[in-house]
Amino acid sequence: MGHDPRIEDLIARMTVEEKVGQLGVFADAVRPFAPDVNPEAVARDAAATMEEVRAGRVGALFNGVGAALARETQRVAVEESRLGIPLLFGADVIHGMRTVFPIPLGEAASFEPDLAERTARATAIEATAAGIHWTYAPMVDIARDQRWGRVAETSGEDTVLASAFAAARVRGFQGDAGLTAPDSLLATPKHFAAYGAVLGGMDYNSVDISEAALRDIHLPPFKAAFDAGAITVMSAFNDISGVPASANRWLLTDLLRGEWNFDGLVVSDYTADMELMAHGYAEDEVDAARRSLTAGLDMSMQSDVYARGLPVAIEDGSVPMAVLDEAVRRVLSVKARIGLFDDPYRCLDGARDEDRSWLEAHTALARDAARRSIVMLRNEHELLPLTRSQKIALIGPFASDRDNLEGCWNLFGERDRAVTLEEGLRAALRDAGSLAVVEGCGFEDAIDGGVEAAVAAARTADVVLLAIGEPERFSGEAQSRTQIVVPPAQQTLAEAVAATGTPVVVLLRNGRALALQGAVAEAEAILVTWFLGAETGHAVADVLFGDASPSGRLPVSFPRDSGQQPLFYNHMRTGRPELPGKPWEFKARWREHPQSALYPFGFGLTYSTLDYASPQLSALRLGWNDTLIVTCAVTNTGDRDVEEVVQLYVHDRVASRVRPVRELKRFQKIAIKAGETIEARFTLTRADLAFTTADGGHAAEPGRFDIWIAPHSMAGEPVTFELLAA
Ligand code: BGC
Repeated sequence: MGHDPRIEDLIARMTVEEKVGQLGVFADAVRPFAPDVNPEAVARDAAATMEEVRAGRVGALFNGVGAALARETQRVAVEESRLGIPLLFGADVIHGMRTVFPIPLGEAASFEPDLAERTARATAIEATAAGIHWTYAPMVDIARDQRWGRVAETSGEDTVLASAFAAARVRGFQGDAGLTAPDSLLATPKHFAAYGAVLGGMDYNSVDISEAALRDIHLPPFKAAFDAGAITVMSAFNDISGVPASANRWLLTDLLRGEWNFDGLVVSDYTADMELMAHGYAEDEVDAARRSLTAGLDMSMQSDVYARGLPVAIEDGSVPMAVLDEAVRRVLSVKARIGLFDDPYRCLDGARDEDRSWLEAHTALARDAARRSIVMLRNEHELLPLTRSQKIALIGPFASDRDNLEGCWNLFGERDRAVTLEEGLRAALRDAGSLAVVEGCGFEDAIDGGVEAAVAAARTADVVLLAIGEPERFSGEAQSRTQIVVPPAQQTLAEAVAATGTPVVVLLRNGRALALQGAVAEAEAILVTWFLGAETGHAVADVLFGDASPSGRLPVSFPRDSGQQPLFYNHMRTGRPELPGKPWEFKARWREHPQSALYPFGFGLTYSTLDYASPQLSALRLGWNDTLIVTCAVTNTGDRDVEEVVQLYVHDRVASRVRPVRELKRFQKIAIKAGETIEARFTLTRADLAFTTADGGHAAEPGRFDIWIAPHSMAGEPVTFELLAA
């Protein structure tokens, strides 16, 4: 990108303090949404913040809400600061603003990137109306270890699925009318990079990873987000094989700007530059500032490390002015690209704020998105869908709960408007059936007489809806778990209710894959309902009563036991693959469990049955530059119309580096009417078969490949083709 004369003129006139000021993003104390949780971070009140803005010592503010107050802060920046540089207003608007959509993991279960694009668009419309220019989303980290609390914010364990959602969300946030459009919200893929690969699934832990795994597994969703138009990115907290991501020159400069030609700005995660000292990677603040800036980290979030350290480093010559100028240029360029120099008050119109909250279309979208995110794992004896005349007992701590509908990362939603399970069921039943509601136990503790009351209700019901799982606080940042199970008090409730013999439908609330056990695993029916957002109760009722057929598929593998973690379907082939049914052989498996998942990636049932024919290939030998067309006839053999997620997997038989047992390459959600046969059709080229080869290149290698078209990652019979050499 050529230099913008307006920006060059500003840089020429800025003092070092003003330059460093542009590199700082701080919590918006003028219009705060909540108390700051990080005690070590800079804390300022509204007056002090305004003073900093007036002095030109702030480039951006984040996590404030409301257009009117932002307008006033912007006025101070533009009219009262020496150079009049407008502020950028950022926020964590992750899966909805006022109208809350399913958590990203739940939405990924829809296997519909288009849906994510639409919810991101709705989110952008509401957020930009509330005085926000820039969101710290999408989170595009790959989550292969379900102990990690931030799985909830991801699109799951698969790179192709996550890349499709990353791109869709960027398109949705930013819109297609250009970055200066009044409802375009700047996207920030995060956390760059490999934050999901923390050892042991413990948040903030270190990441020891090969460059091949980094490139093949963790980096592609970022690339997809940039290709979709993202011009900002957030660096991660973790180190990557010993070098913290936020001071990692190879990552932030050589790869990002050199190899990928990224010309936007890198913002640190919250105090990540300061944390270089705790990592033992920087001596003091000056050293931390110097290492981060010279590595390619442009903006510092919520620490004073840049503000205090950079002037010293400039003064002593250890950071050249040109390096500081380049970071400032990047920040100002982003401001210019979203039109802030032309209209500093864009997105800051108080009247529009009111207009854009809780639009009917957004509520309808929230209900549809929630329905499409639900995954049915079991449905013995076709217990579901229910009829409206059945006698239902809704049991469990989530039955009427309103505080755990939205998920761990929602700042601006309005809880009072969210629809609980009980409300959704009552609305669906009208007067047709009967509904008894019993809490049974707390999230983690028994309650007096709770189990007895639940058992009594179960005995007199035709069916039990057991609303159990994880409360919101079990997932999200710093919420890693060692045992990814339903809490014991709820498991006790489940066992007692199941013992009544009344059929049980588990309505699982979860921010990660869980190891389901005992009566929960054996319930007649299981619906994975994640945290579905504002329309939870309506959406669950829609699926329960068959107004919608479940169409979600697992974006993360459900293990048999917590100790299997990290467990993901696309693991490498070992030299001793397990032999099913022969646990005594010296093969890759656990003493107690096979290597496989209980419910694998891609799994999910519908209200019908589907039959997959053998895939047909356009050629058994694929020329180096040719396109392979793969088709498969899928028949709905049941009597209900459904939507099926048809999945195409590939396996490279012999390669210069050991390859995964299977890899998802394509997927398509297709509506299939009862009795109908459709032909799913996919195309592949050698680009889809490329990986990081033994010599460090990125290429496909000639040879034989297995290919499956299947309903999930462990199903189907492969057919084989050969990729011919050039
Ligand atoms: C999180 C980021 C978030 C940032 C700002 C950090 O603690 O890791 O995901 O965007 O805070 O709130």
